[in-house]
Amino acid sequence: MESDFWHERWANNQIGFHQDVTTPLLERHWDELFDSSVKSVFVPLCGKSRDLLWLAERGLEVVGVELSQTAVESFFAEQKLDARRGLHGEMREYRCASLPLTVYQGDFFALSNDVFVTSDVVFDRGALIALPRIMRRAYVEKFKSKLKPEARILLMTLEHSDEKSPPFSVQESEIRDLYEDEFSVKRIDEEPEEFRGQLATNVIYLLNRKQPVTL
Ligand SMILES: C[S@@+](CC[C@H](N)C(=O)[O-])C[C@H]1O[C@@H](n2cnc3c(N)ncnc32)[C@H](O)[C@@H]1O
Repeated sequence: MESDFWHERWANNQIGFHQDVTTPLLERHWDELFDSSVKSVFVPLCGKSRDLLWLAERGLEVVGVELSQTAVESFFAEQKLDARRGLHGEMREYRCASLPLTVYQGDFFALSNDVFVTSDVVFDRGALIALPRIMRRAYVEKFKSKLKPEARILLMTLEHSDEKSPPFSVQESEIRDLYEDEFSVKRIDEEPEEFRGQLATNVIYLLNRKQPVTL
């Protein structure tokens, strides 16, 4: 998707994907999936998601990346959080003063390697499925090539029948095609959601890096 598309969506407040609550499937499954060895979470294409706050309030080191400055400014204003502003490579950096939370404003594809290398878990809600099919492989390739071997991915998709505009419907077969050469893919749970007047399904997957085969 062109960046103008997203800037326009934020400018016109056309952000139907945004939820004022923490993602229920995240809340339901986090504790059963991850123990205290998980210290850091990367939230790509984070919008102004309340999930950032929920994760940081658990003491996790949270890093988000988001294209839209409107989204990032809104996040800090709406959650009544102070941010120290700076620069990080090509990105604007917003470092929360009171919680272990940093949001980089800029293009995911320009993000420096350090964020990938230091993350224990990637939480992807509405990120892979925000991208058109032609960009999804390049997005996934970033994780395959830059995440540390033990990092895991908690991935949420939406399965639906209206392909006009993002969020796109991404089926399990495509998730497997994109990731399964390097990650095991486990479909953990799903729940129905009304989407554009029809019934859709939110799906959550856990992806673990496959161990290299030793001879
Ligand atoms: C479907 S929304 C999901 C937002 C968030 N994850 C949530 O759960 O509310 C996709 C977000 O990705 C952002 N985005 C799109 N392309 C991006 C890119 N190349 N780099 C960073 N953010 C991007 C958009 O501005 C939008 O906020």
